[in-house]
Amino acid sequence: MASYDVIVIGSGPGGYVAAIRCAQLGLKTACAEGRETLGGTCLNVGCIPSKALLHASHQLHEAEHNFAKMGLKGKSPSVDWTQMLAYKDDTIGQNTKGIEFLFKKNKIDWLKGWGTIPEAGKVKVGEETHEARNIIIASGSEASSLPGVEIDEKTVVTSTGALELPKIPKKMVVIGAGVIGLELGSVYSRLGSQVTVVEFLDHVTPGMDGEVQKNFQKLLKKQGLDFVMGAAVQSVDKLKTKAKVNYTLRKDDSEHQLDADVVLVATGRKPYTDGLGLEALGVETTDRGQIKTDAHWQTNVEGIYAIGDAIEGPMLAHKAEDEGMAAAEVIAGKAGHVNYGVIPSVIYTHPEVAAVGETEESLKEQGRAYKVGKFMFMGNGRAKANFASDGFVKILADKETDRILGAHIIGPMAGDLVHEICVAMEFGAAAEDVALTCHAHPTYSEAVREAALACGDGPIHA
Ligand code: FAD
Ligand code: NAI
Repeated sequence: MASYDVIVIGSGPGGYVAAIRCAQLGLKTACAEGRETLGGTCLNVGCIPSKALLHASHQLHEAEHNFAKMGLKGKSPSVDWTQMLAYKDDTIGQNTKGIEFLFKKNKIDWLKGWGTIPEAGKVKVGEETHEARNIIIASGSEASSLPGVEIDEKTVVTSTGALELPKIPKKMVVIGAGVIGLELGSVYSRLGSQVTVVEFLDHVTPGMDGEVQKNFQKLLKKQGLDFVMGAAVQSVDKLKTKAKVNYTLRKDDSEHQLDADVVLVATGRKPYTDGLGLEALGVETTDRGQIKTDAHWQTNVEGIYAIGDAIEGPMLAHKAEDEGMAAAEVIAGKAGHVNYGVIPSVIYTHPEVAAVGETEESLKEQGRAYKVGKFMFMGNGRAKANFASDGFVKILADKETDRILGAHIIGPMAGDLVHEICVAMEFGAAAEDVALTCHAHPTYSEAVREAALACGDGPIHA
């Protein structure tokens, strides 16, 4: 039996970051992981593989739609799907091996297998029980199921199956117009599938700024995705190699059907805590299965902490990472901190969509007085040159103090641009602070400055 200061359960972005930070802070650390490779959902079947396929399919889109305009003539590339999947797998491998290297470098023991917590202070992996002064649960999440829909990961798939389909489907129905549905829907649409997205609500990407939702859906429609909004999926019938999606329209209860070669179920994810033994330990969970923690990520059982997708809050890799670092610091006797008001979210379609802080809707709900500074990418020289002038930057600032409260970007590199606003918000900056900062020309980031100028006396290029 080995004895550790900390055993982390799960090696996703929450778990591996927590383990590395614990080791850096001088704590003897191990990490239990049941998968064959480290990195969790994110590196194996989430963020990284989906971004590889988004990148490859975007390059194809550029070649088909924009190369000739720039004088780059010749045959567009054809898709070698086997090679594209191999590129995706190679990207996964490089990243998961990178975590293995970091574990070795930081002298973190990888306990290979599924961990259970027989009692506080102990973690059992396989036949071995280890002692742990502290345990961090970072067991992540899994796709949630939908009544009447049986997943086989072949014809009816979650994101995991959608990342390794044997061939590109002619017709794909995506259930859910959230982040997964729109990212993977975009991939297959660009690769030639006829994609129809069936969404329960009347808008895409719940929780995003309303104006962004409308514009985003419009742009995706222009790219060829079809949408059935306000539709409740009742069931999916599996035929030999195809499927039929049965749904009712919420406005009149009328019944409809859609044929598909592949159905992607992307209706949200739920915490994965199977086999940990939480009930026997008396660890409290919410009615949605999320592990309850205090402000220091400790559960109601002393010495057991939880972070990432397994607890409340947005299911994002960087949120899990920040909690991992903070929980490690708390265990090491330091002041771990996460600013939940400044967690960016990004959708890696083209154009990208990025958000941080309040939306117009949330500010209205709170009855707060705010002003809007908006700038269209159409007025940005770099965007025009790069065929990327769809979209805008919108900054929300306090009407009285000019303090930035949120930002919403739809456009090129939105996922990178948003961090300028994140840093500004961390420093409690006013829109004027961003407006007075010199931005290099020609860059997309000038659009952020122009939106900040729009909160004051007005942008220059609009
Ligand atoms: P996970 O990454 O889920 O890792 C948990 C790990 O714990 C798993 O490897 C699991 O095997 C292991 N485990 C569980 N129980 C045990 C046990 N008892 N013993 C041992 N090991 C155990 N987020 C972003 O921010 N950006 C993106 O672009 C993005 N893209 C995504 C794309 C897809 C298709 C999906 C599905 C998700 C995406 N996400 C993205 C979400 C992101 O993957 C998660 O928020 C993130 O992985 C959560 O990290 P985590 O450490 O909490 O858990
Ligand atoms: P989601 O919560 O983003 O979207 C689910 C969508 O499905 C919602 O629009 C919802 O209204 C709809 N829906 C639910 N039930 C339905 C039904 N019966 N019929 C039709 N529509 C229905 O969940 P998603 O896309 O599965 O993603 C899960 C998590 O993974 C998210 O929390 C997200 O944060 C994370 N993720 C993050 C990414 C990123 O940061 N770029 C990429 C992919 C996933």
